Amino acid sequence: MNIFAIGDVVGSIGCRFLREHLPQLKKLKGIDLVIANGENSADGNGITPTSAQFLFDSGVDVITAGNHSFRRKESYDIYDTCETLLRPANFPPSAPGKGVCIVDMGRIQVGVINLMGVIYMESMDSPFDTADRLLADGLPKITLVDFHAEATGEKRSFGYYLDGRVSAVFGTHTHVQTADECVLPNGTGYLSDLGMTGPIHSVLGVKPELVIQKMRTKMPVRFDLADGACRMEGAIFTVDEKTGKTISVERIQIQ
Ligand SMILES: [Fe+2]
Ligand SMILES: [Fe+2]
Repeated sequence: MNIFAIGDVVGSIGCRFLREHLPQLKKLKGIDLVIANGENSADGNGITPTSAQFLFDSGVDVITAGNHSFRRKESYDIYDTCETLLRPANFPPSAPGKGVCIVDMGRIQVGVINLMGVIYMESMDSPFDTADRLLADGLPKITLVDFHAEATGEKRSFGYYLDGRVSAVFGTHTHVQTADECVLPNGTGYLSDLGMTGPIHSVLGVKPELVIQKMRTKMPVRFDLADGACRMEGAIFTVDEKTGKTISVERIQIQ
């Protein structure tokens, strides 16, 4: 089974680029399931019912999120009503929504977990303990984890922690794709960060000059999205349906 995980989709420009290219890639690579991080899919950041629906209508099966999950109030309800829209599972229990879902694909079930790192991020429950708890509750043999985190050390540690216990661990949040894709010793597919789906000449999707201004002046600056050519980034995890282990990981960059 081929599962395509897509890095943070940024704004309507990133959503449109995904819609243009995803159907063809699905056919070309025989993709069975698509997971995309949508925490920045709305213009002005966060996720809205409209941006979530756009991603689902474009062929995404599960949307994960991260530190920007609750930036838009209008999304709170859909976190509770939409089974396949996740926010990190280690948010306080009072937060809307849930951090895990099971997709019923008929012949097989696939679990998806969303968790957030705690290094250089807001403090949350331990992702390690939360993962232990979710796995102890029982999840399908094929289960993948979007670990939304900043520090590569935390991400790699987390990958090794779950090696052999889930099918794949992939990172999101930095919007910069790493080149360390591999299958860990006990069969978990791994990549520290999937990258971004959005404008290439940008700083995490934002016009570079605005981010430079913010960094130099330390004054509030309104972040507008960059435009121009886009790239869709992610990775395809080929998973053995019998064992739930990953056979290979292919990094994807389409522009
Ligand atoms: Fe992001
Ligand atoms: Fe993030």
